[in-house]
Formats: sequence, structure tokens, C-alpha cells
Amino acid sequence: MTSNESKAQATQDDAIEALMVEERRFPPPDNIASRANVKDPAIYEEALADREAYWAGEAGKLHWFKDWDKVLEWNPPFAKWFIGGELNVSYNCIDRHLDDRGDKVAFHWVGEPGDTRTLTFKDLYFEVCRFANALKHLGVRRGDRVAIYMGMIPELPIAMLACARIGAPHTVVFGGFSSDALADRINDTKAKVLITQDGANRRGQVFPLKDNADAAIESTPSVESVVVVERCNNEVTWVEGRDHRWTELVESQVAECPPEEMDAEDVLYILYTSGTTAKPKGIVHSTGGYLTQVASTHRMVFDIKDDDVYWCAADIGWVTGHSYIVYGPLANGCTGVIYEGTPDYPEKDRLWQIAEDYKVTILYTAPTAIRTFMRWGTEWPERHDLSSLRILGSVGEPINPEAWMWYRKHIGGDRCPIVDTWWQTETGAIMISPLPGITTTKPGSATFPLPGVVADVYDEQGESVHLGGGGYLVLKQPWPSMIRTIYGDQDRYVETYWSRYDKETYFAGDGCKRDEEGYFWLMGRIDDVMNVSGHRISTAEVESALVAHPSVAEAAVVGRNDEITGQAIAAFVTLRGGEHGDEALISELRDHVAEKIGKIAKPQSIVFTDDLPKTRSGKIMRRLLRDISEHRKLGDITTLANADIVDEISKLAAASPGED
Ligand code: PRX
Repeated sequence: MTSNESKAQATQDDAIEALMVEERRFPPPDNIASRANVKDPAIYEEALADREAYWAGEAGKLHWFKDWDKVLEWNPPFAKWFIGGELNVSYNCIDRHLDDRGDKVAFHWVGEPGDTRTLTFKDLYFEVCRFANALKHLGVRRGDRVAIYMGMIPELPIAMLACARIGAPHTVVFGGFSSDALADRINDTKAKVLITQDGANRRGQVFPLKDNADAAIESTPSVESVVVVERCNNEVTWVEGRDHRWTELVESQVAECPPEEMDAEDVLYILYTSGTTAKPKGIVHSTGGYLTQVASTHRMVFDIKDDDVYWCAADIGWVTGHSYIVYGPLANGCTGVIYEGTPDYPEKDRLWQIAEDYKVTILYTAPTAIRTFMRWGTEWPERHDLSSLRILGSVGEPINPEAWMWYRKHIGGDRCPIVDTWWQTETGAIMISPLPGITTTKPGSATFPLPGVVADVYDEQGESVHLGGGGYLVLKQPWPSMIRTIYGDQDRYVETYWSRYDKETYFAGDGCKRDEEGYFWLMGRIDDVMNVSGHRISTAEVESALVAHPSVAEAAVVGRNDEITGQAIAAFVTLRGGEHGDEALISELRDHVAEKIGKIAKPQSIVFTDDLPKTRSGKIMRRLLRDISEHRKLGDITTLANADIVDEISKLAAASPGED
């Protein structure tokens, strides 16, 4: 059984069944183990024996203006960490490195067209202070929300750090999202300022961020000012008084801005992620606990040394970029790489070219990217000297053993340990992962919970399953970087994460198996959330976008296993009376979803059908549609209200080609 099939199995059955037995083992190589940041496996026991002391020790590696009085207050399901402590995230990421590492490179930035920029920690300090003052000049005060809608340019982390400096929670909206998605997020947070850019470079084209921002702002009354970075010099419309050029704003600001002394529990940011309903959830992250755990895990999991050149090739618009491009690495004074564009521009070796040019030592990317590189072939990495690499990371979805082995051999030269890191937007930081100097890895397994993290696998009743069995992943103790709430919706927070078993048990929504040796094997989502190219998209969100189209009466969306993207979106649509479904309407609907949510949510296939399979109580049987999409043998369908339709849909689905 491939891991994709087992993932389907996980979503299909209540108890999750067998997994392919993986016999390959990779102990840590001597050169990594002998000088690793974490060498002694006793750390797991020690952390377990006194978790609060363990996390207090990690928090103590940061700079606090005022010490905390108490490590943890746990009123399930609400946790507070480092109570009474005061700190500033931008101070920790920048100022405290200035004496020893002021001239060290914080970011090597590479633009898609080939331009580059290098920012030392000192440069970052000046840029962040000036922009923080510019935000103040626009009237942003501690506690005000700021929305950021940008591509991968240096001003993005600068803007985030400037917000952190003045205590204004940011909400970064991925630059590939549409104006509707942007407007929803701005309205949910009531952001006062929107920071964007004229356009973003994307595979040689300009993606019109400012146009989208303008469209969004028509329905966002909270936005008073818009800051625009001129990146592509594409034509934009300008609203005098509301719109401000970044360069003009910072010109008159001084390069000094005292950091706000924030409470450990103050909100650092809100980041939206998909859930099982159409409305995205605003995940709220804290200041002290969050920074403690992202810095600690970054240092341990990637074994960060002062001379490392670390590259997390995610987009800053997702949590991976927040935690492991911006906050974790900078808190550790680490040199990072940021690349603006796509991996195949101008050629399919762009990443390997950059890795060679900057002598990258650590690379962190996603299985979907690795599978794409596999498809492109080994000739592209072979053109480059990748011998500087020493550790490889994976995140976002289960990595199939074939992709793991390919990554190890063709990118890591059979010498680099792979850290497969399991975590979520809600966990804020890595929770389950190998430690490269200690853990013997198995291809496809995220191995064990990190020190200080208590995870288990439960059955339906909330009993821990025996080793060798499968069930649902749970986290049993609070952790510093955990979600504090869903912005503006405490009930949904409790309901989504803390009510499947009891209010002390965090329900991750992932299927998981443990093998006989206790290794964790993550098996994908068990709810109606799809994982497309490592990004969560809810079936409900795509359905509601489809139904918003005037021709559509009803829609059901499922994630179909896909070799490259993990899952691909398959939609089943019934049309309003008199409407005729043809190729033109399929492409119109796909574009319509892209417009409502973003290109990433475009269905790969759309099948028109007269009806959707429903239970007698009227619930759409998505599981059945998934079976149909993946051409599986269908089980008993006699309980359906409209069993005949299944035959028809199966025939239609078999005849419908997917599109890229
Ligand atoms: O299903 C799991 C999968 O991605 C989900 C979290 O998605 P998101 O909040 O967008 O964050 C992605 C980056 C942290 C999880 O519930 N996932 C993430 N990492 C892994 C994974 N599944 C298996 N193995 C992983 N390493």
C-alpha cells in the first residue's frame, strides 16, 4: 500500500488500518551526531519529568525585559505561558544580535528576475525601525491590527517585524489569494492598515497585488491607509490620502524605534487557515510562548550553527514561513535565504542554482515540491554542486517513502539526515520530528514527539492504541506555541480542538499510526479538509465558492489523491434548471473559484451530474465521491436516498479528464 492509499484509508475507516512495513533505517551520520546541538537522548526523559522547567529553560534563552512570575497556567483548554513576563519579538530577532552579529547576513534575498539584496542584522534593524515609525505615523498603535498582502520580498519580513516592534498584531494574507479572500480576512481582524505591493513576480508574469487590494478595500471599512511597495512598476490606480509609497513613507523616519515591552501573552499575529466550514479560522498566536518554541525547535531540529546558511523554501504567507523563515531563524541569529519566485523560472534548476551560489547548508521544503523535482528529473540538481548541504527538512503533508529516498539521494547526496517535521498552523511550531544528531530515521515517518511535547494516538473511545495500531493523533499537554484561540470565536476554538475527547486533549484532525518501535506515521487529514500542495483548503470553502456562481445549484468537493500535489480538488456540481454543462462552463467555474479564493483552490476536475449521492437525512456522501474519484470499488450504497445516481456519476467521473 502506498502512503497515498493509506491516507485514503485513513479518511475512510474509523480505525486506521495497516501501513506498508518500512524496513529501511538511517542512523544519524557521525559528522552530524558528534557536533549536534542535541546529542544526549536523556533530554526526552528530562523534559517529560518536568515540562515546565524544560520550557522555562528554553524561554530563558530569549531576552526578557521582565521575568515571568509563573511558567504555565492551564485552565483547560486555555493555556497561558510565562505569565507576567515581558519581551519584544523584534528586539529578540534583531537588536540583541547587533553587538556580536551586526554585520552578519540575516537574509540573502534573490529576486525572480535575478536581482539580489543582502540584509545584515544591522540593515534589518534600520529598516524595521524606520518602517515601525512609518506605521506609527499612519496612526497604528499597540493592539491595532495590520494586514499584509505581499509576495516574497524583503519588505515582507520587515513589515512583520515592524508590527511586532510596536505591538500591532499582523495578519499576513498569502499573496496568491484573491481579493475576496483578502477582504474576508481584513474584515475579520478589522485591520487599520494594509501593506501591499504594486505587483509580484510570478514565473515571469506580474501578479497584480495592488489591483486585488483595491478591489478588496471596497468592502473593508476598517482600512484607513494602504502602503505600497513598488516592486514591478506595473501601472496601479492611486487613491490620494489613502495610498502611500513605502519609500516615501520611510524617507522621513528616523532609524530608531524603541521596542514595545509586550506581555508574554499579547497577540503576535493572527493567521487564517481552513477548517471544515467555509469560514477560515483566524489562528491567534502569542508573543512569549510562540517565540520560545519556534526558536527552540529551529535550533534543535535543524541543528543550527553560527555559520549555517539556512533556506526554508516555503512562502512567508503560510505558517511555515512565519515560524521558520522569519521568527525562529532570526531569534537564533541565523543567516537565511529568501527567493521571490517559482522553482522553474527561468529553468527547472533555479533552486539548485541558488543553493550552490549561497552554499546553502540546510534546506527545508515540502513533499509536493520534492515530488515535482522527481518528475522533472535528476538532470536539474545534477548540474549543480550541492555539497554544502548538511540537513534536509520536509513539512506540510505525509512524505511518501519514494520521495523521501529521492530527496536523500539526489539532493542530499546520501549524506544528509532528513527531518520530516509534523506540525500545524495551530501548533505554531514543530511538534513531531527527528533530531538529526540522535534519531534513527525511517523514510516516511516523522519519528517521535520532540522533548517537551506529549503526543498520543487514540482510538474512537479515547484509549491509547497499542503499538502497531492506528487512530487519531492527539496532544496531551499544553505547549508554549499553541494556538490561544480562534480570533473572535472562542466557542469554535473549544469545539474544533478540545471537544472530540475531553477539554485537556487537543484533537489534531490527523490520522496516525505508531509502529512496533513507537515511531509516528502521520496519515493525513481525517476531516473535510484537503491538503493540496501542502496547503489546507476546506471542501466547504470551495463548495461555497462554486455555489456562489449563478449556474450552480449544488456542489460537493473532495480531495482526490494526486501523485504530485498530495491531493487534487475534484468537484461534483448540479446545475440550476435549464443550465447546460459544457467545457466552457467547466473552465468558467474553475476561474470563478480562483477568483473567489485563489488559484490554489481551482478544482482539477468538475463533473456535472443531475444529483449528488445523499444519505436519507440529506447529507452529501463525500466519502463515496472520493471513492468514485479514485476509482475504488464502492461498498454498500443501499442506505442512500438516491442510489441510482451513483452509477451515473461513476460513469461521468471515469470519462472526465483532470486538468492541471
Ligand atoms: O495534516 C497535517 C499536515 O498538514 C496539516 C497542517 O497544515 P497547516 O496548518 O497548513 O500547516 C502546514 C505546515 C506546518 C496537518 O494537520 N502535515 C504537516 N506536516 C506534516 C503533515 N502531515 C504529515 N507529515 C508532516 N510532516
